[in-house]
Amino acid sequence: MKLNVLVTAGDGIGPEVTAEAVAVLKQIAQAGGHDFSFTEKRIGGIAIVNDGTPLPKDTLDAAVASDAVLLGAVGGNEFNSLAPDKRPEGGLLQIRAALGGFANLRPCFSFKELTVNSPLRPEIIEGTDIMFVRELLGGAYFGKPREWNKETGVGYNTMVYTKDEVTRVARVAFQLAQKRRKKLCSVDKANVLEVSQLWRAAVTEVAKDFPDVTLEHQYVDAMAMHIMNRPRDFDVVVTENLFGDILTDESGVITGSLGMLPSATIGGKVNLYEPVHGSAPDIAGKGIANPLGAILTGALILRHSAGLEKEAVLVETAVKKVLEDGFRTKDLARGNMDGLTVMSTTEMGAKVRELLAASF
Ligand code: IPM
Ligand code: MN
Repeated sequence: MKLNVLVTAGDGIGPEVTAEAVAVLKQIAQAGGHDFSFTEKRIGGIAIVNDGTPLPKDTLDAAVASDAVLLGAVGGNEFNSLAPDKRPEGGLLQIRAALGGFANLRPCFSFKELTVNSPLRPEIIEGTDIMFVRELLGGAYFGKPREWNKETGVGYNTMVYTKDEVTRVARVAFQLAQKRRKKLCSVDKANVLEVSQLWRAAVTEVAKDFPDVTLEHQYVDAMAMHIMNRPRDFDVVVTENLFGDILTDESGVITGSLGMLPSATIGGKVNLYEPVHGSAPDIAGKGIANPLGAILTGALILRHSAGLEKEAVLVETAVKKVLEDGFRTKDLARGNMDGLTVMSTTEMGAKVRELLAASF
């Protein structure tokens, strides 16, 4: 198997955690005789500083020419006063748009060993396994018109969807549900927003092609509560861009740390892979960041871009085993410390690779 991966590590803890994901992918390639190559390019704040733009042309060209893009994180406090499209986050939105992936898969699961890290009670969260499908190219993030008019003191964005945009992401969600527990929950605000009424109607229409999947609709405000109260009831959840952004951060509370959560964006020219966590500037460069979200993102590359499902599962199993064996980065080390070993970012990466090597 040949795979050309563009690595855009970005800002803050991005480079540290991405390096561990790449090391795991190299190990998988070597063990299986696969030809994975990795090219590195700048994105985000580091690109603003070096190239004057958050998404330099050579990064974009390399991304479009690659088989998969692995992105670390973007953002930093020094850029907070810039306009949205000039900020590091602007580079991320531009690369998302250019690659064309519209279905952002964000799994949310509870690790038994980390239930102590969640403020929610173990009996609520244990066994949670939700696949969020966040629409990534529409809604208020990209809708026009948009403006902050300083003269009139008026600001607005436009939450806009076409029926086709809803239909294509709904199809991905239904297909995933068919392979899982055959339940799909679509989240909207159809009691207030016309765009959500269109969303609901389009999803309901797609449901006719998937009679084996049970579809329910929830309003986003109620859903924010349900995923805290009864997360196990949900299988696949599909929603628009901004609601998905908010609900997936919220669902990080179930896992106990956003640092554990991977994501894959599919459906476009080139798939884009990014951990859900941000650049965490407060802990950057200290060697303490948790690389497991990035490593699990690497597993998603194996699954969705390399077609190496077995190897993806091996990586996921190695991450579970690391936790079972009591190894934690600093952010994860909570509660009773008996039997826990606190490790640095690189030690954690090495531990995953050690367990992985034993499983080949
Ligand atoms: C995410 C992030 C991004 C988003 C930011 C950094 C632009 O919060 O991936 O969830 O809002 O999509
Ligand atoms: Mn977010």
